[in-house]
Amino acid sequence: MTSKTPAATAAKKPRVLIFDTTMRDGEQSPGASMTLNEKLELANLLENMGVDIIEAGFPAASAGDFAAVSAIAAQSKSAVICGLSRSTPSDIDRCGEAVRKSARPRIHTFISTSPVHMKHKLKMGPNAVLEAVGRSVAQARNLVDDVEWSAEDATRTEFDFLCKCIDTAIASGATTINVPDTVGYSHPDEYGALIRRLIENIPNSDKVIWSAHCHNDLGLAVANSLAGMANGVRQIECTINGLGERAGNAALEEIVMAMKVRGDTLPYDTNIDTSYLARASAMVSRITGFPVQYNKAIVGKNAFAHESGIHQDGMLKNSETYEIMKPEDVGVAKTSLVMGKLSGRNAFRDKLESMGYTLEADALNDAFKRFKDLADRKKHVFDDDIIALVDEQLAAEGERIGFKRLRVVAGTEGPQTAEIDLTIDGEDKYSIARGNGPVDAVFNAIRQLVPHHAVLELYQVHAVTGGTDAQATVSVRLNGDGIMATGRSSDPDTLVASAKAYLHALNKFEVRKAKRSRAA
Ligand code: KIV
Ligand code: ZN
Repeated sequence: MTSKTPAATAAKKPRVLIFDTTMRDGEQSPGASMTLNEKLELANLLENMGVDIIEAGFPAASAGDFAAVSAIAAQSKSAVICGLSRSTPSDIDRCGEAVRKSARPRIHTFISTSPVHMKHKLKMGPNAVLEAVGRSVAQARNLVDDVEWSAEDATRTEFDFLCKCIDTAIASGATTINVPDTVGYSHPDEYGALIRRLIENIPNSDKVIWSAHCHNDLGLAVANSLAGMANGVRQIECTINGLGERAGNAALEEIVMAMKVRGDTLPYDTNIDTSYLARASAMVSRITGFPVQYNKAIVGKNAFAHESGIHQDGMLKNSETYEIMKPEDVGVAKTSLVMGKLSGRNAFRDKLESMGYTLEADALNDAFKRFKDLADRKKHVFDDDIIALVDEQLAAEGERIGFKRLRVVAGTEGPQTAEIDLTIDGEDKYSIARGNGPVDAVFNAIRQLVPHHAVLELYQVHAVTGGTDAQATVSVRLNGDGIMATGRSSDPDTLVASAKAYLHALNKFEVRKAKRSRAA
């Protein structure tokens, strides 16, 4: 169990810095964009959890990214706040400006160094790239004391050239050197050997912190990061739930728990309070609309579930038979019957606070009313029901298109018909539509009121808790005009949850479309 990490506990272990890039690389995941308020909420949680460095965005990418990085820098207390920047002078200035209000600002600048990236993406020769490394790092270092330099596609870069670039970055003032496996191509033994060889070959390697940034295209991001750590890396770049470009990045929760559970073979410490992990995972899933797969390590719904009789028997005798860590270690509370119809507002507020939600008075009143409605309709209300209810409310705040009422005719007699009332920009609207099944009818009714070209790419239903009166959580993904948006919602009525999830995605889709046309 985690409480017994043998001999290694005696001596002080070297620290490994946890660099969270959920809001930068994670947000680059198609469909995973976050609003400013969502980013502020997540940054606050990451900081409370003990993340050392928060990569808050890519300030030169858009006005929204610049505003988010600046606001996170201004609210930060102890974490280093980092912005990503290409090597162009205007990007670096913009990044420096965005992180300025943090007590501990960092500029993270990068350029590709592999032959394929230099030739086809940058259309630059090695000398020009080398010159850009020196110039960009020196410029960043004039703005802040903490500068990270990354060799994009490092693992497919010719070794001697990689050494030259890193040498130049260190000579120009970089304080952290990041070695990304940008396309998730490495195997752990190879990645570990690369880190070791770089550290052995670069004369000033002891003057900088070495960092791993591994993508998960072959499912090896965590294994590669740990191999890097065993060979000298002291900063790991990772994301909550492994969010990120394509197959994602190394999952923060897996890295941290691998170190905590296997302190005997990974004798390093982090500053992370692991009891925040489940909450962080749920928050990122709620904000992005990306469900966490049930069997996901550490934070999946089934990570601590025991189904077979033999396993249950073993667990009852001693939980160490089938659990290598305790659910409490990662902040998973035992599913408990929490509250009922007669519970009061204060008890409800206390319950929410224990689950990491602090709501303003209006939002609390709203949530309490919805909880009472739920308790009227559902016999047992569990923690997970309350989480779903509050998440759904938070997701709907400030949306242009609001849900009011739904009536559906379903069953064998047909025709399946949906009548829906919405508010659109404050005005009440009504529509009625038929469909090939009740869900189709509901979505057709919404499409009549808000015409759009996006197609429904994903529709998924899960039960929040057990029983036939369980709330259903519906996830929806819309894709069209090069824009992708995901939405999620829960309700004991699957069709109501479907309508709200569709509207959640549609609201995001419309916001993105408007943003794009403003930018154009
Ligand atoms: O994957 C990558 O190479 C990156 C860099 C910008 C650090 O995300
Ligand atoms: Zn990346």
